[in-house]
Amino acid sequence: MTELNNHNTPPLTLNGKITIITGGASGIGEATARLFARHGATVVIADIQDVQGRLVADSIGSSRCTYFHCDISDEQQVISAVNFTVKSHGRLDVIFCNAGIVSTSKQTVLDLDLNQLDALYNVNARGTAACVKHAARAMVERRVRGSIICTASVAASRGACVRTDYVMTKHAVLGLVRSASKQLGVYGIRVNSVSPSAVVTPLSRRSPAAAKKTMELYEALSSLKGKELCVEDVAEAVVFLASDGSGFITGHDLAVDGGLTKLPDVEDMVMYNC
Ligand SMILES: NC(=O)c1ccc[n+]([C@@H]2O[C@H](COP(=O)([O-])OP(=O)(O)OC[C@H]3O[C@@H](n4cnc5c(N)ncnc54)[C@H](O)[C@@H]3O)[C@@H](O)[C@H]2O)c1
Repeated sequence: MTELNNHNTPPLTLNGKITIITGGASGIGEATARLFARHGATVVIADIQDVQGRLVADSIGSSRCTYFHCDISDEQQVISAVNFTVKSHGRLDVIFCNAGIVSTSKQTVLDLDLNQLDALYNVNARGTAACVKHAARAMVERRVRGSIICTASVAASRGACVRTDYVMTKHAVLGLVRSASKQLGVYGIRVNSVSPSAVVTPLSRRSPAAAKKTMELYEALSSLKGKELCVEDVAEAVVFLASDGSGFITGHDLAVDGGLTKLPDVEDMVMYNC
């Protein structure tokens, strides 16, 4: 009988994989750092929240996780984080480019604060590009057939009534993923994204009433009923894309949105990262 595949090991493991997670000090990044470690990965959390980042790393355990200060909007700091990882662990197998920010104002086109747009662009688009660039260089140099995953959003593939700046930067993330996947395939490097809908994270918890309203609204708009998206759901999708179980998937945007049919346009949404 013909061998159907050569998967001798369980695919959904990250055993021995050396990983960087940007924005790993809280929310989706934190949940992913914990799940990566549980799947056997070694994790470097790259973030700007030093106290919180160290707390998360310590709670995961120093043999599995370390914290490294890295503002992704500064290319030199991204290079330092990649160099630190490679020097400490010998190579880089996976990067989860997840750090991102939102504006606190509505940012409709008519009121667009361009300084605010620049600030978001510097982190969400430019910073993510710096992470993809330097992680890919480290992989190519050491002939690692690595996996790069970026956090996009449901707002990356459609317009919204508010948050024009955020929507623009998340569209840029998809452009980056699509281009990088075409360019890096020749090295065996896969590049994908996850696109969550609304998920309660420390940012949204600052306004619990609005968070509740938003989650109810998203549930109403999703095909999947009786469940709210949580950070662990996103982390599971990232583990899949990081693992050899997704070994033939590249250039893909994996929606983690319960089959969301359309983006809500309520004013409260300005509070959220989605
Ligand atoms: N929460 C949602 O509803 C939602 C939905 C879709 C997409 N997203 C995206 O998910 C990602 C994670 O967001 P979250 O909801 O977990 O929010 P969060 O605020 O809990 O986490 C974001 C992390 O990024 C870090 N960060 C911010 N700027 C940084 C910088 N310049 N350099 C390094 N780290 C930086 C923060 O310190 C924080 O730890 C973001 O890219 C966000 O746009 C969130």
